[in-house]
Amino acid sequence: MANRFRTEISNIIKKIFPSWEIPAYNIKVIRERNSGRICFKLDEVPLNIKSIEVENGLSSDFCKAKLTPEKNSLSCEVVVDKKWIVRHLLEELEDKLFQDSRLFSVIEKQRVVIDYSSPNIAKPFHVGHLRSSIIGNFLKKLLETVGHQTVGLNYLGDWGTQFGILKHGLDQKWIPFDDIQSSPIRKLFEIYVKANIQAKEDPVFMEKSLEKFRFLENGDENTVKDWSIIKDYTVAELQRIYARLNIKFDVYDWESMYGRKRIQSIVDLLTSKGLLTPSPEGKLIYKFKERPITLVKSDGTTLYLTRDIAAALDRRERFQADCFLYVVDNAQSDHFQALFSIMKDVKMEGATHMKHVKFGRIQGMSTRKGNVVFLDDVLDEAKERMAQQRKRSVTTRTTLNEDYVNDVLGISAVLVNDLKQRRQKDYVFNWEKILASQGDTGVKLQYTHSRLCSLEKKSGVASIPPSSEINVSCLIEEEAINLVRHLLRFEEIILRCHDELEPCILVAYLFQLCNFVSVALRALQVKSQPANVAEARLLLFICAKNVLAEGMRILGLTPLEEM
Ligand code: ARG
Repeated sequence: MANRFRTEISNIIKKIFPSWEIPAYNIKVIRERNSGRICFKLDEVPLNIKSIEVENGLSSDFCKAKLTPEKNSLSCEVVVDKKWIVRHLLEELEDKLFQDSRLFSVIEKQRVVIDYSSPNIAKPFHVGHLRSSIIGNFLKKLLETVGHQTVGLNYLGDWGTQFGILKHGLDQKWIPFDDIQSSPIRKLFEIYVKANIQAKEDPVFMEKSLEKFRFLENGDENTVKDWSIIKDYTVAELQRIYARLNIKFDVYDWESMYGRKRIQSIVDLLTSKGLLTPSPEGKLIYKFKERPITLVKSDGTTLYLTRDIAAALDRRERFQADCFLYVVDNAQSDHFQALFSIMKDVKMEGATHMKHVKFGRIQGMSTRKGNVVFLDDVLDEAKERMAQQRKRSVTTRTTLNEDYVNDVLGISAVLVNDLKQRRQKDYVFNWEKILASQGDTGVKLQYTHSRLCSLEKKSGVASIPPSSEINVSCLIEEEAINLVRHLLRFEEIILRCHDELEPCILVAYLFQLCNFVSVALRALQVKSQPANVAEARLLLFICAKNVLAEGMRILGLTPLEEM
């Protein structure tokens, strides 16, 4: 919407300087003043224009503008017609948001593969994977909103000696197969822990485990078959958990897809480009910033990095990707720097658009069950705590299923708590703060959304006319104008999140929106007002609800209509 101003201003300027085409998105708002005065700064002004005496008092139905040439720019002070803004805002937000967003239309659209969540089987889904899932899911929704095509990819770890140990543990049949089937993530973890202890104590067990891994790596039919059954169960369970979080992947890939067989062509490619040097012990080495990095071990087996090279080339091929995002914690920075450098060296298409979307650690996350965190335990605990909190509250009333509401609220609280942090910062996990109904939490977003829904239902306005028939002169109060102004910024906020791949910008915006809504709800009664006032106010609140719901959807929340 703010872009509409820009387009208007750019049109006005075009009237005076027909030869000078300024793209609307080059116009920066530098300050907003009360009284509807908005100042813009125009950069990149051609020299000859700077010296021209600019005519004052330009006007259109939208505004009166005064242009002043400054040193390196042209400043433009505009007195905007408030009614014009309100009308256009309501028009834009009453129904489909971003339908013809000019701001988004200037973004070059890409096919983006987003690698996120990506846990390792048989290991608990640790908090790093939780953050990756939440942030990755947000990025997917954000990029799609702006118009990119995305492939959401879960790259599961199922490769390396540790999986030989697990396989050998599984073959001991310590736990009946049916039990594994019913709860694969926990049972596989139990087996893995026990097998690891054995492998440390008993060299024969270790030897057998290494052999099992070799079987896997060489594609031994039976071993691979057993293995894939285990993996299918694990994915089925993961999918149930992801569904609670509104997360859906387009593709599940495995590290094991890039085992020894697939790697040979990569080794050939790197060798042909002179990028690999054999070491005296027979390893193949890639030099990155003068540091030797092993890509193939002396026994010919591959490493995490080697498999990521193969995976990147494969993603480029399979999805025609031209941008690659890896949502993985800060700790893997070196790994991704090396990967991106290699992909540039082999000149993979899109190699310059590879990005490690890093994030910090969560400290102190534990559940009542202890420190080993399984994702569904976190979500269950959030729900349970929410239920208790709501039992204590006197205002709790809903016609929806209580269990469902508690689950959605608990999950919203956990998600928002994560997304409100600046991505790269570490943060401390604190149940009380996360679930608080006061303060900046997911519960607050849900509460405001359901208040707006209930206002709509109980407004007493039989049918709201379309924005074109609303009398915008009824929206003159400061509270209404402040809300309008804030809503105006939504599109730009989305764009900033897009440029910085940073969810906290949107979360902060939505918290502020809740504050403006709450002030406006107090000041602007809808019930028992003259029809034109009630309709105008209600439409404004509906627009606020639409923006809030859309923002929440992008964050991965399910907006509740009541709670
Ligand atoms: N499974 C890995 C881990 O848990 C994360 C994988 C991230 N994605 C990638 N393409 N390397 O550490």
